[in-house]
Amino acid sequence: MMKLYLSYIPLLLLLVSCNKQQPQTGLANVPLIPLPDEIVQGEGAFHVGERTSVVLHSAKPELKNTARQLSTFLSEFTGREVSVTEGKKIFQRNTINLKILTDDSMDEEGYQLMISRKKAELIASSPEGLYRGVQTIRQMSLLCDPGEILLPAGRITDHPEYEYRGAMLDVSRHFFPPEAVKDYIDLLSLYKINMLHLHLSDDQGWRIEIKSWPKLTETGGITEVGGGEGGFYTQEEYTDLVKYAAERYITIVPEIDMPGHTNAALASYAELNCDGKATELYTGTKVGFSTLCTDKEVTYQFVDDVVREISALTPGPYFHVGGDESHVTELPDYNYFINRVKKIVESHGKTMIGWDEISHADLTGSDIAQYWASSENAARAIEKGARLILSPAKYCYLDMKYDSSTVLGLNWAAYIEVDDAYAWKPLELSEEIGRKDILGIESPLWAETIETLDDIEYLAFPRLIGHAEIGWSRPEVLDWEDYRNRLASHGQYLDRLGVNFYRSELVDWE
Ligand code: ACM
Repeated sequence: MMKLYLSYIPLLLLLVSCNKQQPQTGLANVPLIPLPDEIVQGEGAFHVGERTSVVLHSAKPELKNTARQLSTFLSEFTGREVSVTEGKKIFQRNTINLKILTDDSMDEEGYQLMISRKKAELIASSPEGLYRGVQTIRQMSLLCDPGEILLPAGRITDHPEYEYRGAMLDVSRHFFPPEAVKDYIDLLSLYKINMLHLHLSDDQGWRIEIKSWPKLTETGGITEVGGGEGGFYTQEEYTDLVKYAAERYITIVPEIDMPGHTNAALASYAELNCDGKATELYTGTKVGFSTLCTDKEVTYQFVDDVVREISALTPGPYFHVGGDESHVTELPDYNYFINRVKKIVESHGKTMIGWDEISHADLTGSDIAQYWASSENAARAIEKGARLILSPAKYCYLDMKYDSSTVLGLNWAAYIEVDDAYAWKPLELSEEIGRKDILGIESPLWAETIETLDDIEYLAFPRLIGHAEIGWSRPEVLDWEDYRNRLASHGQYLDRLGVNFYRSELVDWE
């Protein structure tokens, strides 16, 4: 009896140690971001100890990957081997159980996490849901001190508010190699973001190999803003990125921006220009000066080939056609072009997304407009039946400076401090935009001023974390003061992950 009591003492010490950053203990006080739907607090905590294993209760091969990611993380974080086994019984001690319940009323990406002193059970109706729940376990663990993980007991029931929770990375103005994109994907996945939109072409660079138009990368990919080396993804590298993202339940949304923002293509192929002359490569940062020739048939052959090749490598449902800032395309030509491109995108089995300017064209109910600048465009898109991805530049553009002292970034839309990025409400953007019109939100990161993963991290973190919460959590629970306090705990956690984040003075970083 005495022995039994003594054996609890280290556990109690650990409980204190795990939560020493927090004034209180217990599941309800774990500073999770995004905030889950419901937390019911239990007694005690589950210790990830010597004999803990991850038990997968499913034969679905894709779930093995999720289980392996969890065990690898737990092993590295605790310094002890946490194995994965496949099992049927869910009640064994010392196990973290992952299970799919097929006929459940749970949301596609929802999950339930039940933790007792003896074990943890994570249940979802889909592999996505299970993966999101694993991120909750990962986050709870990362908030502990390395070496010892205690998961406070209780129950979390959770599901996302919006089905589209995205980040966009501009790999055109400056090129980022696959490894940097993968590192970004890892961070996105921790905060339950499920879409990565890659801006693959612009005036300054064409960044994906197109086998039927090889000069796009041979010529159009060789430089970038400032005249550096540029680069591009081979189709094999792009496919590998898509797979890497999919293993983290992130869908890649490819964007080929057109008819404007196309100088890299116009420099690569003379026939895409109305005057039949190739342009010079461009390494500046002006916008709005280029256009594909909308009344040449070869333009549509080009678009068809590009959309076909990229769509074949992209399992996700979306193809982003850009469509922004086509200042040198006459509006009737612009509309004719977008209408034809929409049909091409659909012929390759994809749903068209475009920046809000595409609302001028003949949109239908399946199309998606990305609101970045104009609420009139957004309202017009809705009137035509389209849905919206919200990326209002003054709250969501991660390339905007935090304040006037920020070295990286631009400020044409706003200075966006951490509270500005968090404390806006999708439903208060415009009277015309209702909940049913919103597919989700996305945080674009344009790359005129950034060149490295460190730069990406500095502008994205921590603002992107706030956007992730707006995308996932119920609107009525979003509260800046509460969020600010939870975010404070994530500083150490981001440090541990080696993230070069902005230490805003608005947050009392721990
Ligand atoms: C944009 O920022 N031009 C979509």
